[in-house]
Amino acid sequence: MYILGIETSCDDTAAAIIEAKGEFNNPSFSVLSNVSYSQVAIHKKFGGIVPNLASRAHLEKISPTVKAALSISKISDHNLDLIAVTRGPGLMPSLLVGVNFARALAYKWQKPIIGVNHLEGHIYSNWLPPIAVNPKLQITNYKNLFPALILIVSGGHTELVLMKNYGQYKIIGETLDDAAGEAFDKTARILGLEYPGGPAIAALADKWEGKPLKTHQMPIGYECVSKNHQIKLPRPMINSNDYNFSFSGLKTAVLYSHKGKNKSLMANEIQNAIVDVLVFKTLKAIKNCQPKTVMIAGGVAANKKLREEMALKIAPYKIPFLIPELPFTTDNAAMIAAAGYFNCLAHQPCLPAGRQTGFKQKLKSNSWKKIKVDANLRL
Ligand code: KG4
Ligand code: ZN
Repeated sequence: MYILGIETSCDDTAAAIIEAKGEFNNPSFSVLSNVSYSQVAIHKKFGGIVPNLASRAHLEKISPTVKAALSISKISDHNLDLIAVTRGPGLMPSLLVGVNFARALAYKWQKPIIGVNHLEGHIYSNWLPPIAVNPKLQITNYKNLFPALILIVSGGHTELVLMKNYGQYKIIGETLDDAAGEAFDKTARILGLEYPGGPAIAALADKWEGKPLKTHQMPIGYECVSKNHQIKLPRPMINSNDYNFSFSGLKTAVLYSHKGKNKSLMANEIQNAIVDVLVFKTLKAIKNCQPKTVMIAGGVAANKKLREEMALKIAPYKIPFLIPELPFTTDNAAMIAAAGYFNCLAHQPCLPAGRQTGFKQKLKSNSWKKIKVDANLRL
């Protein structure tokens, strides 16, 4: 079936068309178009996202973005089977634009529509092709993925999720304050780098040609040791007796220690500190929960160091490690469409042609009335 995905939860106006086939144990996706309008240029000068400006930009761009997604895919609205739209979590003024636009389309085109949890979207970015697996273990039956351990790391979320099956999520750890992406963004701002801070820190970290810092466990605390042109930032909560995270202390430590230091050195150590904690807690969860698959998702999953460290440390466990392709790490609508497909399958376990029509008919008449926006939606 052909699905139009729409995503406006934060500062990207995104639309995508995917073709989805198969059932829970053999799903397959083709991404026919994946269009995104980034508002970075608008929010850059404020050092973060301004919700009202975000919603105004979504209003302006949503129509051309959806049009572009349709035209690139060469799928006409008549051939669409489903519209999937992010209904939360996110910024309320941003979410409202995407949801209301999608509802209007569903009404006008008389198509079924499904509201999607943005975080579920990030999780399903791992199902979009090409599927990167490390070690190179073949996934033959998608039912064998579970329980899967997923680290969601984005600008607003840092969560370790144990996924028992499709649609069954248990958050086993989360951040108590700032998200990992927020830590990148806020420390970048302290260093005078542009928003978004993640890519800026990563690029600067790459330039650091000093001796690589040891990435062993650090004591919890705020002290920073500057010795031999090196600096050690804290790895907050790395030794805590749970799977939770905290990144606000890192920001404070950077604030008090960056003056007079080489910026690349600082960026390198900030990245190491964040990656160390994320990898350490994920490995701890692997040991205790024995998942059959590990995945990462969200904007911070674009970070090269995180991808490499995670792959390296998970390899000895000989379990598949799935990493989304770069365009599907940061916010995008293809992942929302994929999540919409699994939600659709859950309504109706399999999609033989006849019953699919029944499902479409059922949703067609009034599903647009039922979508509710929830800025604080949980998994
Ligand atoms: O998933 P996403 O696009 O939006 C949210 O749902 O929040 O994530 C955005 C976050 C930002 O904080 C950004 O700094 C971070 O992802 N990010 C990165 C990288 N690319 C984006 N963080 C570290 N390294 C990167 N390469
Ligand atoms: Zn996101």
